[in-house]
Amino acid sequence: MCGIVGYIGKQDAKEILLKGLEKLEYRGYDSAGIAVKNADGIQVFKEKGRIADLRAIVDENVAANTGIGHTRWATHGVPNRSNAHPHQSTSGRLTLVHNGVIENYDLLKREYLQDVAFQSDTDTEVVVQLIEKFVNDGLEVEEAFRKTLTLLKGSYAFALLDSQNEQTIFVAKNKSPLLVGVGEGFNVVASDAMAMIQVTDQFLELMDKEMVIVTKDSVSIQKLDGAEVTREPFTAELDASDIEKGTYPHYMLKEIDEQPAVMRKIIQAYQNDEGKLTIDYNIAEAMNEADRVYIIACGTSYHAGLIGKQLIENMAKIPVEVHVASEFVYNMPLLSEKPLFIFISQSGETADSRAVLVAIKELGYKALTITNVPGSTLSREADYTLLLHAGPEIAVASTKAYTAQISVLAILANVTAAFRNQEVNFNLVKELGIVASAMEALCDSKEAMEEIAREYLSVTRNAFFIGRAMDYFVGLEGALKLKEISYIQAEGFAGGELKHGTIALIEDGTPVIALATQENVNLSIRGNVKEVAARGANPCIISMKGLETEGDRFVIPEVHELLTPLVSVIPLQLLAYYAALHRDCDVDKPRNLAKSVTVE
Ligand code: G6P
Repeated sequence: MCGIVGYIGKQDAKEILLKGLEKLEYRGYDSAGIAVKNADGIQVFKEKGRIADLRAIVDENVAANTGIGHTRWATHGVPNRSNAHPHQSTSGRLTLVHNGVIENYDLLKREYLQDVAFQSDTDTEVVVQLIEKFVNDGLEVEEAFRKTLTLLKGSYAFALLDSQNEQTIFVAKNKSPLLVGVGEGFNVVASDAMAMIQVTDQFLELMDKEMVIVTKDSVSIQKLDGAEVTREPFTAELDASDIEKGTYPHYMLKEIDEQPAVMRKIIQAYQNDEGKLTIDYNIAEAMNEADRVYIIACGTSYHAGLIGKQLIENMAKIPVEVHVASEFVYNMPLLSEKPLFIFISQSGETADSRAVLVAIKELGYKALTITNVPGSTLSREADYTLLLHAGPEIAVASTKAYTAQISVLAILANVTAAFRNQEVNFNLVKELGIVASAMEALCDSKEAMEEIAREYLSVTRNAFFIGRAMDYFVGLEGALKLKEISYIQAEGFAGGELKHGTIALIEDGTPVIALATQENVNLSIRGNVKEVAARGANPCIISMKGLETEGDRFVIPEVHELLTPLVSVIPLQLLAYYAALHRDCDVDKPRNLAKSVTVE
């Protein structure tokens, strides 16, 4: 989703901004732009499409040491050049980039800006025009910006340039992510440390409703009433090579292959010196005190939550409900007496999840965030955090974060079980080790999966994924992966449910991918496969060693029954990858999608 960068210093700003925007591409966007400032004023370059399209129109000869940049994921107004950021005020004096949604933009427009001729359909342009209106009324830009911020309802991360002040970038944040990076003789602004890790690893966290005056030698953080805030920078623990593709053709394939290593890293991270799994005592205590756990998440993280429910109920014996964040916030179920909320979010920035966190905090409940990004909004605002240790995930389609989420949930369930003296009759460390080896074998089965993808998915319009119990939840994730990147209409169904309506869609040759990794439902899912095959479907059974029968298309190595999703998802990730490849789709940056969804 929208990404912001800014640079003020001595070097060529346009190159640093363009490189920064390239690092933010993974968030998803449909247009991009930069504004650079020098003694001649401000020059804006913006374009629909990719950063490469933007690069093509940026004047190579423009020399400037200050600038701001933006990738836009359209919310107000279609993705085109005029709606792309930066936006300028009528006089051209002020230039603004924005991530977020201003809810009262229309009201502000009617109240203050009746006479302004707008150039775009965006809420952002209203903000930059409003700042200019207050400047025209006699305020300094800093004061005009501050006054505007106090009038805004909604979410924002802003970076603002004033053509009459070459020394400063004005910055502000509310709900949308934004960091200020500090360096020697330069400072930067970025939605994500990854965008600027090449130039600094020292970053200042910003809190909601803070405004920042950034020059090349100073950073002044202020509250909206003008009070100064002192804050020390933190070191972003990111290795620049983590965010390179290396020899891989796509980040998604690299991230699929990283899963065994991530698994081993997680085991290590959550083991104490005696090799026992451990988490913060307060988290286990909070779990123990809860009479019900509510898991809140979106997309792939929601699918991990469905598996998490099985793990927690099975091991720790605490009832769990799993909810889609965007529904929960407006349609809250009757809560138990002592609920504990678990937020699962790879990015830790998802606005839908954050809206629930804000709501349940107001009700006084405790929250645990499971995330890949330390210091992310959901991590900061929850009482506790468990980290995924998956390393940056760049491809929009989530892979290694999903298996990391399930692994961390398994560890949480296991440690809570021990805390509650609930007997667990297997050794999780050993079983996760077996999973890591099985994952390795699966990552080596690329040729087989490429062939299956070619056979079943290269020309089809739609596909179904069926499974029972845990396999059903993995099927939902397999279908999501496939539709996200290959645009095949794919749906996951509980094996027994397809016949209650959706079976009407089965035609001659419709691919039905069936998972059979659960012993207690093995016969029933095979029965469901027969039902669809009898109606012309082209079934592809992926089973687990020990449960296979003749004709199964692919057999995955055996792992503990509760942990099967960690391995059965890998063939589905590879299927989606190769299906997208065969159809010439942009695997890492699928159309319309954003990785970090910072609007509700
Ligand atoms: C977006 C992404 C999905 C992701 C979901 C939740 O929709 O495209 O891949 O699963 O957000 O993101 P989160 O960062 O909260 O896990």
